[in-house]
Amino acid sequence: MKDNTIIVGLDIGTTKITTVIGEVGPHGTVDIIGSGTVNSEGMKRGSVVNLERATQAIKQSVQSAERVSGVKVESVFVSVAGNHAKAITSHGLAAIRRNQEIGQSDVDRAIENARAVPLDPNLEIIHTLPQEYVVDGQEGIKSPVGMHGVRLEVDVHIVAGTAGPLLNLRRCVQEAGLHVDGFALHALASGLATLEAAEQGQTVIVVDMGGGTTDVAVFKRGNLVHSACIPIGGEHVTADLAQILKIPGEEAENVKRRYGAALPDLADKDLTLEITTSSGSTHALSAFELSRIIKPRMAEIFGLIRDEIDQSLGPVELVAQGVILTGGASMLRGTPELARDRFRLPVRVGRPRGIGGLTDIVAGPGDAASVGLVLYGIGEDGRVPAVVFTGADTAGGHRETRTDHRPDTRTDHRPAPDASVTAHTADAGAAHVPAPAPTAPTQPPAKPGVSFMDRVRNWFKDWM
Ligand SMILES: Nc1ncnc2c1ncn2[C@@H]1O[C@H](COP(=O)(O)OP(=O)(O)OP(=O)(O)O)[C@@H](O)[C@H]1O
Ligand SMILES: [Mg+2]
Repeated sequence: MKDNTIIVGLDIGTTKITTVIGEVGPHGTVDIIGSGTVNSEGMKRGSVVNLERATQAIKQSVQSAERVSGVKVESVFVSVAGNHAKAITSHGLAAIRRNQEIGQSDVDRAIENARAVPLDPNLEIIHTLPQEYVVDGQEGIKSPVGMHGVRLEVDVHIVAGTAGPLLNLRRCVQEAGLHVDGFALHALASGLATLEAAEQGQTVIVVDMGGGTTDVAVFKRGNLVHSACIPIGGEHVTADLAQILKIPGEEAENVKRRYGAALPDLADKDLTLEITTSSGSTHALSAFELSRIIKPRMAEIFGLIRDEIDQSLGPVELVAQGVILTGGASMLRGTPELARDRFRLPVRVGRPRGIGGLTDIVAGPGDAASVGLVLYGIGEDGRVPAVVFTGADTAGGHRETRTDHRPDTRTDHRPAPDASVTAHTADAGAAHVPAPAPTAPTQPPAKPGVSFMDRVRNWFKDWM
C-alpha cells in the first residue's frame, strides 16, 4: 500500500471529468472526503483533442474536489479509455529448487518471465496482472508463497496503452500541476468499485457506458481477464435524437434523460411531448415513439459487446454469470432490461461500494471509474482490495453487499457516431468456462492460437 494516506482518482471522460479524493484508514479502508465534477472539455472518445482546454477542465475538477475536502491534491491516478489499450495474456515459468518453499522472489521471477514478451515499441505497459498460479500442475492457486514444488507457473494479463494518447493525458495532468501516480484501464477501475463479494467467485462482465465510449471488462474470480472498447456511448443516442427530431443537442440530451427509455414498452404510455424543431415548427411525439428512436442505438451497443465476447471468449451465456452496468449512460430507463434481453444473463446497475465517508457524493453509476481509481491506488495488482468486502473500519458504513441482479430504475446525469469495435484481449481461454465454485480446479487457459471453435469443443468435452 502507498505511504500517503490520501489517494486521488482522476477520471478524464468524454462527457465529464471527475476527481475523487479518498483517505486511507489504518486498516486500508477508504473514506471519500471530496469529489469534483465538471463538464469535459478538449476530449473526444477518451482522447485529448485540445490540450489547453482539457488541462483547464482538469484543474477545475481538482479544485472543486479540493474545496470539499480541504486537502491540496498533488498526485492522481488517471483513467485510460479502452480504445487506447491492448491486452495479452502471457505465460511465465520459474523453476524452484528442491526442498525449498516458494518465495516472493520466485513469484516475481515467474511474473518477470511472463512479462518478457515482445511488445510494439509504441505501447507502454499499464498493468501486469497475475492471474492464478499453477504449482507442479496444481491449478487455481491464488498465493503460492510458502508452498512446496519445483515448477511455478503463472498467467499474467498484460495491458498496454498506446504511447501517444498516454503522453497527451500525462501532459494535461502535469500542466494542471499534478503528478501522475499511475494509469488504470477505465473498465478495470469501474469493476474494482462495483464488484460484490459473491461476484469475486464468478465470471462477470462489467460494462461502463460512458458518453463517447462503452468500456467492457471481464472479471474471472476477481481478476481482469479480458477488456474491449465499443466506440459508441450515450452521446450517440443524444446525437440520434437531435438529428431525427431536428432539435439542438442540449435539448435532445434533456429529452433523453427525462422522458427517454431504452425499451419502448417501459416508456410512459400517457405522455406526449411537444417538440419544437430548430426551424421553429412543432409536432407531437409520444414517449413511446421517443424510445423507439433510442432503442436501436442502445441495442447496437449491447449487440457489439456480445459479438466481441462471443469471438474472443465464447458464447456470452456460457462465459459469464452476470453483467454489471455502470457509467452515466446506464442510467437511461430500461437499460438493464434491454441488456438482460440481449445477454440472457442477470444484469444489475453497479454503483460504487466498499467505501465510507461522503458516499452520497459518489453514489451514481457514473462515479464508478473515479472511485475505482482510488481503490486501484490502494494497490493489490489490480484486484478488488479485500477491505472493500471486509470493511473493517469504514466510517460511513458500507453499501449493500448483496449480489442482486435486479433491474435498476434510478436516474440522474451528456454527446458523436460510427461503429467498429476496438477489442483488446486477452486471455484466449481463461474465461470461456462457466465459473466453477471458487475452490474447484480451473481449466488451463487456452494458449493463443487456439480457435474459438476449439475452445467451444474443449468446453463441451470437459462438461460431458
Ligand atoms: N439520467 C440519465 N439518463 C440517461 N442518460 C444519462 C443520464 N445521465 C447521464 N447520462 C448519459 O451518460 C453519458 C455520460 O456518461 P459518463 O458520465 O459515464 O461519461 P464519461 O465518463 O464522461 O464518458 P467516457 O467514459 O465515454 O469517456 C452521457 O451520454 C449522458 O447522456
Ligand atoms: Mg467514463
